[in-house]
Amino acid sequence: MGVSFMDLFEYANDESMRKVELGPGAVMLHGFALSDEEALLTDLNAVVEQAPFRHMVTPGGHRMSVAMTNCGSLGWLTDRTGYRYDPIDPENGQPWPAMPASLLKLAQSAASEAGFPAFTPDGCLINRYEPGAKLSLHQDKDEKDLNQPIVSVSLGLPAIFLFGGAKRADKQLQLHLNHGDVVVWGGPARLFYHGIKPLATGEHPRLGRYRLNLTFRKAS
Ligand code: SIN
Ligand code: FE2
Repeated sequence: MGVSFMDLFEYANDESMRKVELGPGAVMLHGFALSDEEALLTDLNAVVEQAPFRHMVTPGGHRMSVAMTNCGSLGWLTDRTGYRYDPIDPENGQPWPAMPASLLKLAQSAASEAGFPAFTPDGCLINRYEPGAKLSLHQDKDEKDLNQPIVSVSLGLPAIFLFGGAKRADKQLQLHLNHGDVVVWGGPARLFYHGIKPLATGEHPRLGRYRLNLTFRKAS
């Protein structure tokens, strides 16, 4: 008994297991980012060196448990004045680092695989979670062009992703997001509520005690 090499081979090559439709407009792509892993991690390191992670403050004055930074021409920000996209990193007064080609390519190929072939992201929010960090249920609605999807790439420690519906009170799916998993939501699911449960403690071979999540957006 047990899992044979052939089982694993079939798993890795079985489209129906790697690509899971979560509902109209929402797709899970298991392990989609794994083939680009090395380039992604190298390019992310360079971004973070230029624009280090920081804990932003919500308009209500709460320090977020998730540390954030951005790359691309527009970065998502929160401070006491509200949520917005800004071309400038307020920590250093400089434009956000350019979106590395490896990240852009991954986002576009995942969007295409999920049925959104014309995705042109101009911003990538990079979230860093440590054990205990969470992201409360919210909608991504600060973007101007809601016809374009959100592409979310998970790296490092696993997390439980809550994926609900158009109303805050709608029942949520609980999805395990592992290193290399990609979720895409757009079309009828574009404004669906989602969040991340408090991260469990762990140690990831590449990212230690962290989870990184990249969300690619067309903000303008
Ligand atoms: C987000 O909603 O912006 C991030 C979700 C995640 O960390 O998987
Ligand atoms: Fe979000």
